[in-house]
Amino acid sequence: MTPISNNVFYVGVNDRNKSLFEGLWPLPNGVSYSSYLVVDGRVCLIDTVEVDFFTQYIENIREVIGDRPVDYLVINHMEPDHSGSLALVKKYYPEIKIVGNKKTFSMIQGFYGIGDDITVVNNGDTLSLGSSELSFVLTPMVHWPETMVTLLGDILFSGDAFGCFGALNGGIIDEEINCDTFWLEMVRYYSNIVGKYGTPVQNALKKLAGVKLSYICSTHGPVWHKYIDKVIGIYDSLSKYEAQPGLVICYGTMYGNTERMAEQIARAASQAGVKDIVMYNVSKTHHSYILRDIFRYQGLIVGAPTYNAGLYHEMEVLLSEIANKDIKGKRLFGCFGSHAWASKAVGKIVEWNDTRLHFEMVGEPVDMKQALTPEVKAQCEALGKAMAEKLA
Ligand code: FEO
Repeated sequence: MTPISNNVFYVGVNDRNKSLFEGLWPLPNGVSYSSYLVVDGRVCLIDTVEVDFFTQYIENIREVIGDRPVDYLVINHMEPDHSGSLALVKKYYPEIKIVGNKKTFSMIQGFYGIGDDITVVNNGDTLSLGSSELSFVLTPMVHWPETMVTLLGDILFSGDAFGCFGALNGGIIDEEINCDTFWLEMVRYYSNIVGKYGTPVQNALKKLAGVKLSYICSTHGPVWHKYIDKVIGIYDSLSKYEAQPGLVICYGTMYGNTERMAEQIARAASQAGVKDIVMYNVSKTHHSYILRDIFRYQGLIVGAPTYNAGLYHEMEVLLSEIANKDIKGKRLFGCFGSHAWASKAVGKIVEWNDTRLHFEMVGEPVDMKQALTPEVKAQCEALGKAMAEKLA
C-alpha cells in the first residue's frame, strides 16, 4: 500500500462502477473513497470506505499491518461512503475504539446500532499513538453536523474537505499524477455537495489558517502535497462565492425555437466583449455541471418554454437546485422564455429569482410567442448586451 509518510499509509479504494454519487451526481471518471492508516505504538485507522468495498479494504489494511490489530478508528465524517465499513471493521477488530465527537456518536448509534468502546473528543483534544499524536478540530456543517478533521503533525486528514470526484488511477499523491482532470471536478464536487455551506467552510479554513501543512489527505481524490496552496485557494474562493466575469446561458427547448433565442443572446454578449460563455441545454447536460459553472461565473441567463401551463420541467429542477445552494456572492441574472398560446414560463422564472435566488436582475425578460421575430431577436440582443455591460 502507498506510504504518505513513514508511518501513514493510504488504504483507500476506487469506485468505477457507480453511475450516480448519492444517487444524484454523475461519475464519468469514478470516485475514490480514501482511508488512511497511522502505524505507531498504536495503530489508527482514519475513516473507512463504502461497505461494498470492504473485502478489498481489509486486504489493503492487512497488507500494511498483517495480523496486528487496529486500536483506533477515527470517524471524521459519518456519511456512509466513509462510515459504511464501520460495523464490519468493528467485527473484524472487536477491541477497536471508535473516536469521534458527540454528534458522531448519536449518528453511529442511529446508523449502525453501536454505542460501546467509544472515545468522545472535543475541539482541540489530542490522542497519543506512541511517538505521534493526533489532534482534532471540529468543523461542523462541512457539510454534515458532525464533520471534523484530524491533524498528525503537518498532515491533515480532512474528510470530504478538499475532495473531488474522480478515481485514482494508480497515482495517489498529486505529484505522481497529471491533475488537470481533477480541477473542474473539484469545483463540481464542491458546488454540488458542499456548496450550500460556504460559511461553515470559511469557519473551518479560519480554524486551520495557522497550521503549516505538508499533506492534505481528503476522503475523495488525490492526496494533496504539491498543490496544497492551490486547493486551499479553490475552497477559499468557492466558499466566499467568488466568481469570474463569465456567463452561463442555459435553456430548455422542445423544437429549437427557445434555443434560437439563447443563440442570439450569446452572440450579442460575445460581440459586447464577454469571452467566457458556456451554454447548456438543460435536458442534455446534467445540472451538476451547470451548477458548477454557476459557481465559477457571475452571469446567468436562463430560458425555457411554457409547458402544461407552467415552466418546462427540467428548468424547474435546475432552478430548484440553484436555490437550494443559497449562493450569496454577486450574481447577475437574466431570463427569457417562450409560449405557443399562453405565456407562463417567463413569469415563473422571474418568480423563482424574486423569491428564491435573489440574484441581481439584468435587462428585460424576453418572452417569445411561437417563433423568433425581428422584434424578439432585438430583445434577445439587448439582453445579451445588457449582461455584457454588467460583467465588464
Ligand atoms: Fe464523501 Fe459527505 O461524504
